Amino acid sequence: STVTIPPPACMLRPLEAPLRYLFGPGPSNIPPRILTAGGRPIIGHMHSEMFEVMDEIKEGIRYAFQTQNNMTISMSGSGHAAMECAVFNTVEPGESVLIAINGIWGERVAEIAERSEQGAKVHRLVKAPGGYFSNQEIEQAMEKHKPVLFFLTHGESSAGLCHPVDGIGDICRKHNCLFLVDTVASLGAAPIFMDKQNIDILYTGSQKALNAPPGTAPISFNDRACHKMFNRKTKPLSYLFDMAYSNYWGCDGKPARIYHHTGPVSGSFALRESLAILAEKGLEESWRKHKEVAAYLYKGLEDLGLQLFIPDRDLRLPSVTTIAIPDGYDWREMLAYIMKHHQMEMTGGLGPSVGMVMRVGLMGYNCEKFNADKALHALQDALKNCKKSKA
Ligand code: GLV
Repeated sequence: STVTIPPPACMLRPLEAPLRYLFGPGPSNIPPRILTAGGRPIIGHMHSEMFEVMDEIKEGIRYAFQTQNNMTISMSGSGHAAMECAVFNTVEPGESVLIAINGIWGERVAEIAERSEQGAKVHRLVKAPGGYFSNQEIEQAMEKHKPVLFFLTHGESSAGLCHPVDGIGDICRKHNCLFLVDTVASLGAAPIFMDKQNIDILYTGSQKALNAPPGTAPISFNDRACHKMFNRKTKPLSYLFDMAYSNYWGCDGKPARIYHHTGPVSGSFALRESLAILAEKGLEESWRKHKEVAAYLYKGLEDLGLQLFIPDRDLRLPSVTTIAIPDGYDWREMLAYIMKHHQMEMTGGLGPSVGMVMRVGLMGYNCEKFNADKALHALQDALKNCKKSKA
């Protein structure tokens, strides 16, 4: 038998991946220490040394989430993996869920819940991008829809909003509902306290303020969430995201860890190192730094005559800043100009915020005033050189 399809020409050329300033909403640039950790020779996913690394990751996540939950793992995949894991494991067909939507992430979770559970009753609590919900509004919707799960995005990266969380966990308890919070864009950049804030399920992604490559997704479930998910009548729709996987992370108290799937070994090394950096720096310092650099960026943006999309400074997400599109400019042209002339990624909106904002993310390793200066310089250059459209 002969090969009829020749080796593709592209495969005979070297890999090209340019150096770029990743000043969008993620992934962010990765410090050499994390790149080096991810580049170490791999070991087997079932080796005892790997289980040790996983145990350390678990401790690192518990610190980052401020939780003592045993059921704490890193799901294989991007933030979406944790998002699907949370919904697939806790919601059964026919149950009611309530989703707060004020940007793309709530929309996404609503779609996942609808697709996944063939008839989960999905109730949407909707605001325009950047809007936020009072605890009273949330409680009223809960009284009406009697959900088993309430979803809220802490760091709404598509809108640049950091949603207040205090008191919502208590409301959920009162109404016998699980509280699920997305901190993909906010973890490490803005305070969150899983245990103190009575959050039942919390997840994040590796590629934002944690500065690891995309592909691992920390998630934690408290006892209330475990009770619900381990007393299901039906099996979760996904095998990969079934929290039966937690045995592989040593969370079920059984002495032997059993093969579930082959976890991302290199990604786990990198995640372990990113959590180590956060532990060394300290959460408080990381939060302080993001706030300080964000304030510096706001001032610079205002000095350029740009308007911040979220008017209330206390509600702004420190990791991702949204800028209202300046009058008469084509945002696509500005972003393309910045990429071409400054090798810098900034992005437009996402989902419902497309056409409303441009986004600048300075996260973790990138969160420095000198990077804010670079971003401001690039924006200034784009404002000067991108022709005003007739609008
Ligand atoms: C993705 O995570 C984004 O906010 O663009």
